[in-house]
Amino acid sequence: MSSKAKDLINDVVTADSLPTELPIDGFDHVELYVGNAKQASYYYQLGFGFELVGYSGLETGNRESVSYVLKQGSVNLVITGNFNHKSPIAQFVKDHGDGVKCIGFKVKDAKIAYATAISRGAKSIQEPITVTDQFGTYTSSIIEAYGDTIHRFVDRNNYQGNFAPKFKCANNQLSRTANLLSIDHIVANVEMKQLDQYVEFYKNVFGFYVYQYFDATDISTQFSALVSKVMANQSGSIKLPINEPYPAKFKSQIQEYIDFNEGCGIQHIAITTKDIITTVSTMAKNGIEFLKVPQNYYATLTNRVGTINESIDELAKLGILVDRDEDGYLLQIFSKPVQDRPTLFFEIIQRRGAKGFGKGNFQALFESIEQEQRLRGNL
Ligand code: FE2
Repeated sequence: MSSKAKDLINDVVTADSLPTELPIDGFDHVELYVGNAKQASYYYQLGFGFELVGYSGLETGNRESVSYVLKQGSVNLVITGNFNHKSPIAQFVKDHGDGVKCIGFKVKDAKIAYATAISRGAKSIQEPITVTDQFGTYTSSIIEAYGDTIHRFVDRNNYQGNFAPKFKCANNQLSRTANLLSIDHIVANVEMKQLDQYVEFYKNVFGFYVYQYFDATDISTQFSALVSKVMANQSGSIKLPINEPYPAKFKSQIQEYIDFNEGCGIQHIAITTKDIITTVSTMAKNGIEFLKVPQNYYATLTNRVGTINESIDELAKLGILVDRDEDGYLLQIFSKPVQDRPTLFFEIIQRRGAKGFGKGNFQALFESIEQEQRLRGNL
């Protein structure tokens, strides 16, 4: 039996052989640590169409950090900055540049989620803290995820305030929505030979299973490669693909990320839309830059994916990719990195039945990313 087949058998475990799944109701928020939260939040409002709905800072009694809560559809993006060099936020930005610090999960009970996770081997970052104010009761707790990334369990079921205690409402009417709807998946890049350790972590601590597996033959060009395993909960509301670089002729794009991020971390956040052409047109008009694919990609598109509802000319103009699997098709596009370091980027995805991640596009996409990598002198 090949080692790949063995791996697959190891990974495709039945629900019985996994610990009981940690009950998670969905993604609650994604928090970025940045060098200048005021300016970064302006970028996400104007470029991505997020609406500023909450603020925490000196004016709300928060002397540790400053945060802007941005909302679009069900996506809560929290942009957090700091007031002095001793702050852990300043340390994170010094180490990694602007990037994702936290993937927050909605739970019914942040104490039980925390206790369960810790009893299964997760490392504690913050024990459960319950705050009661005039808006109700809010409980959160935090465990370690990959590298300096964390998972926050949030129970806001009895909390009517703005996002969290010490946040006030904010609405400056800057944004015009791009019709982004919800988080589809969030991808981490980890260092070589670390993938399985994190797969075990999500299996053992969360009871998640390997939803899909891509090996180096799926995702490679003649130059560089990666392997990827998608961890998911049974309901499919949480999908966390994890990538690891694979040795190849030149530097893998995952390795480029790890070098510039100075360690592992979140590579991209995929957000859904019901109308990718309008969403991407809006964002492109707002100045968000997307990866371009070679135009010959579209010449053979119908052969690969069959008939689709969208105009291929319009997709080609915007650089939107299409892939089909047994359940239907999907449309997707990837932004260029959204900060100075070539690290975090965003994916916009519209699913028309397909449940995959655009495996058929990996080759075209990888070539496109490598083209950019070459321009940066990192290949
Ligand atoms: Fe993705």
